[in-house]
Amino acid sequence: MYESANVSDDADRTAFRRAEKQYKLYYEQDSKFSRKKKLPKPVDLSSVLDFNSISQDFNRTGVLPDGIRVAESDSSVFCIENRPGFYFIPNALSLEEQCKWIRESLTSFPQPPNRTNHNAIYGPVADLFDSAKANKVLVQEDTNIWKFYDGEEATAKVKQRRCKSVSASVLLRKLRWSTLGLQFDWSKRNYDVSLPHNNIPDALCQLAKTHAAIAMPAGEEFRPEGAIVNYFGFGDTLGGHLDDMEADWSKPIVSMSLGCKAIFLLGGKSKEDPPHAMYLRSGDVVLMAGEARECFHGVPRIFIDEENADIGALESELPHENGDFIAEYIKTSRININIRQVF
Ligand code: OGA
Ligand code: MN
Repeated sequence: MYESANVSDDADRTAFRRAEKQYKLYYEQDSKFSRKKKLPKPVDLSSVLDFNSISQDFNRTGVLPDGIRVAESDSSVFCIENRPGFYFIPNALSLEEQCKWIRESLTSFPQPPNRTNHNAIYGPVADLFDSAKANKVLVQEDTNIWKFYDGEEATAKVKQRRCKSVSASVLLRKLRWSTLGLQFDWSKRNYDVSLPHNNIPDALCQLAKTHAAIAMPAGEEFRPEGAIVNYFGFGDTLGGHLDDMEADWSKPIVSMSLGCKAIFLLGGKSKEDPPHAMYLRSGDVVLMAGEARECFHGVPRIFIDEENADIGALESELPHENGDFIAEYIKTSRININIRQVF
């Protein structure tokens, strides 16, 4: 699934790869000022679909761009004519919901038995968020055993034993994914039902069911069984891929965006098909069901600059209970929660 952008993979040969390269963040030398200063290369964003403004225009004038239509049963849900099974719900989550799921993504979702990208190196890491807030440091006790210590204690241990250590705040920054419900095993690229797991939280299940309804076969209810939470920092991308490890592709993947704005590429069944590029903002929900489950997709870019990140409202709404820890994190990050029915 997570076949990340591999340069030797298909180089520039496919339309999908060319679009990834077009939107990806590149730096170029700024010759006018200093030899060292590098600036982000300007990107032509004129053909990126903006469902936020499409929706506003539609509400005002009733007009839609070519190739875009609204869902038959709900005119606040948008579809792309040549991508059946794909649904875009702009602003589906309230600010309050966005804050809640950002907070959970950082505090409870990475908690064992849920697994994260850190498991492979450090084993299960408990209380990552609280430890980062308290400036703790993870210290290697034994080959596979790591434990959090307060700063000074950690420094003493490292000096005395010459063992490895890493600060909790660095680990929080480097959090790349966590898995909820049935645990996805990345090495086998499949769900490992033998791994211990908790159910997906009820409130998240309910939210997913509500938004999935429009893409569900008539009379059936969505059953959320597994979720993957992706954390994107500055410069992070998600290469073109298919999510094909679930049994029944008539059921949608429910994908929620939180934090900084991103560009999402929705390709076709072949990487040769030119993808549609669109913005994903905090609060947007995307559904991929039926034929859209067979379409390559990925995230070549997130925007963290104030003008483009589009998180002003979110920042002022984020409660300050955790200091400004969460607000600071989300200023330069994007979180994606995608929820799946596995069986
Ligand atoms: C995924 C995925 C899209 C996104 O995790 O499989 O496609 O918007 N995520 O981050
Ligand atoms: Mn995917």
